Amino acid sequence: MSVLEQISSNEAMALEEKYGAQNYHPLPVVLSRGEGVFVWDVEGKKYYDFLSAYSAVNQGHCHPRIINALKEQGEKLTLTSRAFYNDMLGRYEKYITEFFGFDKVLPMNTGAEAVETAIKLARKWGYEKKGIHSNQAKIVVCQNNFHGRTITIISASNDPIATENFGPFTPGILSIRYNDLNALREVLEDQKVAAFLVEPIQGEAGVYVPDEDYFREAHKLCKENNVLFVSDEVQTGIARTGRLLASCGKCSCPDKLCSGTPEVKPDILILGKALSGGVVPVSAVLANNDIMEVIRPGNHGSTFGGNPLACAVALAALEVVRDENLAENADYLGKIFRTEMEKLAKQTDLVTLVRGRGLLNAIVINDTEDSSTAWDICIALKNNGLLAKPTHGNIIRFAPPLVMTEEELYDCIGIIRKTILEFKTD
Ligand SMILES: Cc1ncc(COP(=O)(O)O)c(C=O)c1O
Repeated sequence: MSVLEQISSNEAMALEEKYGAQNYHPLPVVLSRGEGVFVWDVEGKKYYDFLSAYSAVNQGHCHPRIINALKEQGEKLTLTSRAFYNDMLGRYEKYITEFFGFDKVLPMNTGAEAVETAIKLARKWGYEKKGIHSNQAKIVVCQNNFHGRTITIISASNDPIATENFGPFTPGILSIRYNDLNALREVLEDQKVAAFLVEPIQGEAGVYVPDEDYFREAHKLCKENNVLFVSDEVQTGIARTGRLLASCGKCSCPDKLCSGTPEVKPDILILGKALSGGVVPVSAVLANNDIMEVIRPGNHGSTFGGNPLACAVALAALEVVRDENLAENADYLGKIFRTEMEKLAKQTDLVTLVRGRGLLNAIVINDTEDSSTAWDICIALKNNGLLAKPTHGNIIRFAPPLVMTEEELYDCIGIIRKTILEFKTD
């Protein structure tokens, strides 16, 4: 069989099973095409994408404007490394820093790399600006976080599947309960704490939305204790939660979306995923000069970070977010979605809870965490033309592309309602 020959779903899955490391447990569907909110499998069946590649495809699959930028830049120059300047990086840096209201950006590729970068930046700031003794700096994280998969990041994780037999771990990490201001207050008494690393909503953990004032108060506590507030918006950022950023600091989203919500501008902002519309890996760490200036040539880098192809793609991806009002659309559709899911929860014992913000939502299935019910419901959803995936055990995350129309959303709600109401547990 030639590698370019058309293959069936079964053949494709068998190849992955035989030749690929088994580090994922995908839903049994093999996709070969995507456009907007839709994806198609190799047999031509059409599905609504209700995961958006874990919130990377906020702008929809293969957005023409982003793909054009990819093609145009791809024919000119793709990679120079940072050994030389290129004519795209500076333009992109100006655009993204103005877009999010920071002095400087440090460009990377994956979300995990950006989190690693933020931790390095925070530690160096801790030594050089805060005066923490050499090698003593601590980073505070929250239980049930998800920040990626590298050794330092899993050192901050309390998920046994992510950590078991991967030790020894990186020291200098303190873990506290999420959404617990007293725990934060207590831990910040330690003068060796350089930063508090936190997600505005814990996405992977199951879309846990903290109390309305949590971010504002946590930010205030950090300020009072000269500790950097580091917001990981890899999943929640770029309009996903109905605002440009879930932490909603100084940003270019319309004021009406920010009113009544806490105004928190993190000291360090981490972005990834939808920063490129899911087209190429692009991540970013943003901070103001007083923090970013601790990074000097040779301290940190990446061969691909800031490459001209990524810069052109990310520029187009951000323009799409702004020009197509994706934050407003996510806010509007998200309210409809939760209202309809709450109605559904009243009609069946199978759904116990609905939560989320914008188009990052989850339903909790009425079964034990180790049951396969949520997985089985996702299989039934797939059979009915909608792709979603459980996050943790009995929680199903619903995160469609933000370019969805109201009509499409109601169509999806119909599929979810029908699937759940007809679902029979064994
Ligand atoms: C909040 C958060 N941070 C970091 C990451 C890691 O990003 P990546 O998978 O691109 O390394 C993720 C991925 O899901 C995430 O949700």
